[in-house]
Formats: sequence, structure tokens, C-alpha cells
Amino acid sequence: MRQKIVVGNWKMNNTIAESAALASELVAALGKGFSGCEVGIAPTYVALQEAGKIIAGSAVQLVAQNCHYENDGAFTGEISTGMLKAVGCSYVIIGHSERRQFFGETNATVNLRIKKALAEGLKVILCVGETLAERESEVTSKVVTSQVTEGLAGISDISTVVIAYEPVWAIGTGKTASSAQAEEVHLLIRNTITKLYGDAAAGKLRIQYGGSVKPSNAAELFAMPNIDGGLIGGASLNAADFAAIIKAAS
Ligand code: PGA
Repeated sequence: MRQKIVVGNWKMNNTIAESAALASELVAALGKGFSGCEVGIAPTYVALQEAGKIIAGSAVQLVAQNCHYENDGAFTGEISTGMLKAVGCSYVIIGHSERRQFFGETNATVNLRIKKALAEGLKVILCVGETLAERESEVTSKVVTSQVTEGLAGISDISTVVIAYEPVWAIGTGKTASSAQAEEVHLLIRNTITKLYGDAAAGKLRIQYGGSVKPSNAAELFAMPNIDGGLIGGASLNAADFAAIIKAAS
């Protein structure tokens, strides 16, 4: 049985004070001793420390939105794995579609970042997913397969990798993939992992769905056999909604 994992990606939202307030509300909404599934929040870099203090001792883990592949140096605007570990992050999201679309991230740079994160002991959430144009031209499986294969190239141990399937056309648009549409791609991803890493690794891999997950559709998505939780954007900015989604996975 794979333990479900639900992570809130706060993206470029919330000041330090707002992040602290949201983290407190979430801890309160989940209640003491919550252990229904794995939970994380990914605040902005400047809010990691404050949010980390608030979730310390709770079930909520600290997640970063990206990391660089070098230790340090002249990389303006980037953040290192060492910095993320020092502030208490356990996971890092890599290859989010917004990084790919707006910041020139490619499968090759995603691969470098994943290798660095894993080498430094950070767990990874690798994001993959097709655009609307790719879905309409029926290349979804080709695109997702190469994102998985090239993103993980040269990595032998994926025991601390989670994959998030996030169709770009469903992110922040209110359009969720149907549970059947999502399940089809999740199965494709698991089969790709079976080919690359064998049955045991594929059986253990958690594959999150992301893209307009809400309290009203979470339970149906999470009931699918190959959907092992969610990566939640907009709905994670409201503690009650995010807690309801987490409970749907528990
Ligand atoms: P959304 O974002 O839930 O706002 O669609 C999901 C994501 O980008 O991780």
C-alpha cells in the first residue's frame, strides 16, 4: 500500500506574516497527531524559515519550490540545496510547468537539479505534464514519457522521488482532468517506471495529480488506483480547503 502524499505549492503568494498565519491555520485544521497521509507545504523562499518554525513538531513537512544544481556561486536568483536543507526542507519540487514555461527549464536542467537534490539527501517531486496543444495533437504520452525518462536519466535509485502529473491545461484554470483522464496518464507513468526501474520500484513510486484539485473533486481523483495524492496550488492557499483535500487522501 502506497502512503498518499499531498503537498501545497504556494507559488509566488503570501508575505512572511501571511505564510506564518496560513501555516498555523493548517496545523490547527489538521489537529494534533494527524497521520492520515504525508503532507507538505512549499512557501516562498523568504517564508521557509518562519513557516518551518510553525510546522515543527506537526505532521506538515517543509518543501521548496526549486533548487539549483551547483553548491554556490554566481547564480543570481537561485537557491542551493545546502540552503534548503539548513532551513529544514525535506522535499524540493523540480520541473514545475511554470518553471518550464516561463523560466526556460528543460528536461536536461530538471535532470541536473534532481541529481543534485538527491545527492544532498533532499527528496524530490518531479513535475511532468502536457500542454493543451500537445494533448490536442495527441502527443501526451510521448511528451510525458520523455519528461520522465530524461528527467531521471542517470539516476539509479528513485526511492525518494515522487512524480507529479500536472497537465498544464488544468493548472490554475479551474479545468481538472477527469479522474479517468488522469488515471490513464498515471498508469502510463508507472509503466514507464516499470520499464526503467522494474516492478518493485514502480509499485512503490507515488504519483501525485495536480491541476485544479479542490475539496469537491479530490476524493474522486484520489480513489483512482494509480493516483497517490496531489500537488495543490490555488486551493492550498486556504487552510480549510487544503485540510479538506488532505483529509480526502487520508
Ligand atoms: P492549481 O496548481 O491547483 O492552482 O491548479 C497546481 C500546481 O501548479 O501545482
